Amino acid sequence: MSAPEIRTIGVVGLGAMGAGIAQLSIEAGYETVGREVTDELGEKARDRIAHFLQRKVDKERMTADERFAVLERLALQTELAALSDCDLVIEAIVEDLEAKHALFAELEGIVRPDAILATNTSALSVTEIASAVSTPERVVGMHFFNPAPLMPLVEIVRAELSSDDAVDAAYTLGERLGKKPIRCHDTPGFVVNRILIPLLNDCIRALDEARISPEELDTAMTAGAGWPMGPCTLVDLVGIDVHVHASEALYEKLREPRIAPPPRIVAMRNAGLLGRKSGRGFYSYD
Ligand SMILES: NC(=O)c1ccc[n+]([C@@H]2O[C@H](COP(=O)([O-])OP(=O)(O)OC[C@H]3O[C@@H](n4cnc5c(N)ncnc54)[C@H](O)[C@@H]3O)[C@@H](O)[C@H]2O)c1
Repeated sequence: MSAPEIRTIGVVGLGAMGAGIAQLSIEAGYETVGREVTDELGEKARDRIAHFLQRKVDKERMTADERFAVLERLALQTELAALSDCDLVIEAIVEDLEAKHALFAELEGIVRPDAILATNTSALSVTEIASAVSTPERVVGMHFFNPAPLMPLVEIVRAELSSDDAVDAAYTLGERLGKKPIRCHDTPGFVVNRILIPLLNDCIRALDEARISPEELDTAMTAGAGWPMGPCTLVDLVGIDVHVHASEALYEKLREPRIAPPPRIVAMRNAGLLGRKSGRGFYSYD
């Protein structure tokens, strides 16, 4: 297949990641079709995007007219058929293989034969997701980081059967969205999570082994290793439930003991100490 010129982008699922990706897309000048399961969820995502763009207006990084024009490029839909003219569709729905398979199989019957299908999955195999379609060469991973509008990296993931054209088109799109893309192959955790998840779990184990406080651990890693943010602050920000889930998913695939979540954070997750979002994790938040 040869990749189409990307003019119109579809984003399926406008939750935490999808709304951010849709924002990047409209800010970069692409006509964007956002698909959610209900009108209310779509409107909620648009409100969030509008709010972030307003902050740019307030900081004089965008004019009110520009904000209006940017928001005009986002069309909200609940019907998947509305994605038929998209040159590239980015899937950002729930992290569930069956749900993604059902979506990709349906999408294949709707979009043009040369349209690219990208998944933002963090922990599933892009190759396995692509097995739902009869043209897996058009499927790639585009793994953005949370919050997508602010985090510069996007991992462009080549699955077993991805075509060079699809990978190149996703890479170029990553650049046009203002990101720093890197290419990688479809392996568990891709690059950043493969490294960061075991590292954060080692950090948490060191809390108990070295009998230090979260504050001391954060000081150790910021002042001694040059991290921009300490590991306890980072895990609280990501969400302890999200981190435990990601650790379990990666451990299931690689079976390396360092990747398994330490019992301490599993207990915190089970007790509802989820970090910033619940008001209490390693630290307390008002
Ligand atoms: N949250 C993160 O830090 C993060 C980072 C990188 C990648 N990811 C990946 O991005 C994807 C989305 O994660 P999220 O955190 O945004 O989840 P989320 O729960 O915030 O959003 C998912 C959204 O998808 C919608 N949805 C579900 N099925 C749908 C369908 N068939 N069509 C349209 N919309 C549908 C839901 O209504 C929900 O709004 C997952 O695959 C996740 O692994 C998440």
